Amino acid sequence: MIPQSFIEELKMNCDIESVVSSYVQLRKRGRISTGLCPFHSEKTGSFTVYPESQSFYCFGCGAGGDVIGFIRRIENLEYVEAIKFLAQRAGMNVPEDAAEDKTALLKTKILEMNREAARFYFSELTKPSGKAALDYLLGRGLEPKTIKHFGLGYAPNEWTRLTDLLASKGFRYEDMVAAQLSRKSEKSGRYYDVFRDRVMFPIIDLRGNVIGFGGRKMSGDGPKYYNSPDTPVFKKTKNLFALNFAKKQKLERLILCEGYMDVIAMHQAGFTEAVASLGTSLTSDQCRLASAYVEEAVLAYDSDEAGQKATKRAIGLLDEVGIRSKVLSIPDAKDPDEYIKKFGGARFKRLIEQSAGSVEYELSKIGAKYDTGTPEGKISALKDAVGLLAEMKNPLEREVWAAKLARDYGTTKEGILTQVQAKVKRRARAESARAINGTAQSNTFGGAVPEKLKNPASAAAEERLLGAVLRHPETLSTLSTALSPEDFVCELYGNFYRKLLSTLSTGFEISLTLFGEDFTLEQQGIIAKLSGLAREHQYSAEDAIEASKTILRLKERKSDQEIGELSGAELVEYIENIRKSKK
Ligand code: UTP
Ligand code: MN
Repeated sequence: MIPQSFIEELKMNCDIESVVSSYVQLRKRGRISTGLCPFHSEKTGSFTVYPESQSFYCFGCGAGGDVIGFIRRIENLEYVEAIKFLAQRAGMNVPEDAAEDKTALLKTKILEMNREAARFYFSELTKPSGKAALDYLLGRGLEPKTIKHFGLGYAPNEWTRLTDLLASKGFRYEDMVAAQLSRKSEKSGRYYDVFRDRVMFPIIDLRGNVIGFGGRKMSGDGPKYYNSPDTPVFKKTKNLFALNFAKKQKLERLILCEGYMDVIAMHQAGFTEAVASLGTSLTSDQCRLASAYVEEAVLAYDSDEAGQKATKRAIGLLDEVGIRSKVLSIPDAKDPDEYIKKFGGARFKRLIEQSAGSVEYELSKIGAKYDTGTPEGKISALKDAVGLLAEMKNPLEREVWAAKLARDYGTTKEGILTQVQAKVKRRARAESARAINGTAQSNTFGGAVPEKLKNPASAAAEERLLGAVLRHPETLSTLSTALSPEDFVCELYGNFYRKLLSTLSTGFEISLTLFGEDFTLEQQGIIAKLSGLAREHQYSAEDAIEASKTILRLKERKSDQEIGELSGAELVEYIENIRKSKK
């Protein structure tokens, strides 16, 4: 752990405006500065830096936080790494920490063991006992040089080969377990190999380290693929399989697919820009990683229903980080691997060239949803399409698609555009109405603050309270006696409040930095946004007190169902209480 006092000193030495200026061209606008957001692609400057609170927030993509959060995002670093990065920039020495040394040491050990393991698995392929595995890979159409390039291998069908090998090289059993290469038997207390009788796929990071493995069974029970669980050197949701190979060239786009074998088949066929999300559904961390390299992705997911669902989801996630999607449809095969095997690389290349942009894909889905031979079907499809166009920010793009729709549906471009305009206006009005009520983000925080949908009023009060406290920390000690984190409806907000309360005993300054260590970047973005809203609405100390009363009052409220279950006398008492608390 790095002491909070050091972090505060570091922040004093790293003015956010000057740090951001190394990455973004900022323009002064009164007390703030704005520029083009480095975290998503945009043409207007939604990215705002607030020197007073030493924070940033992007009104376009929702990225926000303090200077450490900025460096974490832009340099793609972990919290501690970001602090070291900034310390170096400011010419400060990070206090050494014994515990930290220990994890660094363990990480090195794990990487060494992984490398040994990969070598071992590879060499097993060429032994008689590995023949079935080699035949399996060759039978799936892989050439020997592809197998070597990806370092594929075989984990033999025995219990302790790798564990014994690592032990003979002086590695400790606990470290093998931490690497997720060995497990301890409860019964005998002995250690045994995690991967047995599986074809092995090493997962390699951008620095060339083997960080984990995927193992595919050739027969028998158990999951088809078994992947290393997370270890100190491997976070599945933050890596893209084969990005280490893909980024060796100047990339114009990435091809994103589901499986190990899809990636390998594509690379062998010459599509070396293919990567996979390692069996998890695509995460926003993976999208952010991709956005450091490309602005376009071709989605080559499986052609089944699950793959199509994943495609839709991916389009949204990629859009958030400024990556345009094109969607590949794969006819007569379940995935890219099978397609290439059946029809060859040249035909696959044509598929890629024909892959539709995401709008075209959505429109074709809409067309397929209704019976567009009938007037009713046509109208329904057009309505959906108008909704889609209304989401586009670029008017020119809207025109182009309106013209295409007009042709396809035998109507006029102007007619469609009028409807789109009306829809855009309706949406803008609804949004500003929500903003005035102080619940502007009722949907945007959805995933992180799930309670918000059912309890909009409590959530709004909690947001007001947090924003006001950040502006007026002196209210906190008064609040602490009346309001506890458990009174919050939204768990995340309760946790923010708990963190704020902890400053009362430690005496640390209240600022967004406080949230750097225990909260994710997304969560830090949310608290940064609440702080921004508080500034915008100029929340006062009274607002904080008022909001705390609202939170407590709403907490007493019962749901309709609960009210239905009260007896007559209870009901009278309940109503009395509400009346009293309103005064
Ligand atoms: P698929 O089931 O589509 O397999 O899973 P695949 O890629 O076509 O595999 P082959 O061609 O039969 O060998 C897609 C990806 O999902 C992950 C793996 O990364 C796989 O490549 N997965 C799948 C798992 O992690 N575990 C499983 O049990 C299955
Ligand atoms: Mn497959």
